[in-house]
Amino acid sequence: MTEQSNSGSNSPASVKKTPAPPARLGSKHFLGIEGLNPLEINSLIDRGDMFADLIQQTTSLQPPLSDVLRGRTVLNLFFENSTRTRVSFELAAKNLGASVLNINVAGSSVKKGETLLDTATTLNAMHPHILVVRHNCAGAVQLLSQHVDAAVINAGDGRHEHPTQALLDALTIKRRIGRVEGLKIAICGDIANSRVARSNIHLLSTLGAEIRLVCPATLLPMDIDAMGVEIHTSLEEGIEGVDIVMMLRLQTERMEGTETPSQREYFNLFGLDRNKLQRAAPDALIMHPGPMNRGVEIDSATADDVERSLIRTQVEIGVAARMACLEALATEGAP
Ligand code: NCD
Repeated sequence: MTEQSNSGSNSPASVKKTPAPPARLGSKHFLGIEGLNPLEINSLIDRGDMFADLIQQTTSLQPPLSDVLRGRTVLNLFFENSTRTRVSFELAAKNLGASVLNINVAGSSVKKGETLLDTATTLNAMHPHILVVRHNCAGAVQLLSQHVDAAVINAGDGRHEHPTQALLDALTIKRRIGRVEGLKIAICGDIANSRVARSNIHLLSTLGAEIRLVCPATLLPMDIDAMGVEIHTSLEEGIEGVDIVMMLRLQTERMEGTETPSQREYFNLFGLDRNKLQRAAPDALIMHPGPMNRGVEIDSATADDVERSLIRTQVEIGVAARMACLEALATEGAP
């Protein structure tokens, strides 16, 4: 299955690529994968691939890789915790020449009771060009986008969507295997609370992958039937013969009232280890959006397996994927 060998995130040097042009989106904002057409998705992935090559060819202490956001301000507004997504957007914006501001919501007027819309209009008055927003409520980012002049990128809204994570996941797969089409991909764990799962179901099925969801019955989303995917409540059965096993964290912060087993019980049934992984295809690859809870949904031997785990590569490729999104919005009509 692994067509492009174990070359980490590198594309094989022998394959000469024509540089992809900037991605084109039919919208000023980037709020979700649902609603994007295959052309838009592929243009983002191809451009991200080009940026990933460019990043790998350069050293870290460099002037920006592109000037497309020179003179523009990107504002990171995160109402929920984040390490990799926020830093990744910051690096991506700086690589494109932008000025970046990070709003520390914990130290902002939100903590004094200001509403989302008041915060949005206040920030809007300072004329940022692109707002990167993460919020704990599904739909909050879209609502905010209707009240600001800036272009808005969804960096994760509640259980709804996390479109740039899905893009970076698809790009990681494409760079390692050479394609997404025809792959069997199992997304495993807390599907109900996962915006990563939702965005990936849309994106990876649009690209022609066969998606299976694997989780306890209590962690299936309400609208599961509409998703048109295979469902398994046994990890061993669900990952049988798959090319990729994508693990998810138990997102306890969104779990009010859900019955879940103890962490130990959960690991025994749904945690990925070498033993269970034997059921997947012989060279199956492992993914996880992070942050990982080792010993709960995955054990360390599996997560850190350099031959099969793409987890670090996902983080690396995230910067390139986000560069493609930021550039697309700059081209598409951010003020
Ligand atoms: C994910 C998220 O925030 O939805 N993390 C991320 O962005 N890399 C997944 C998670 O929090 O478990």
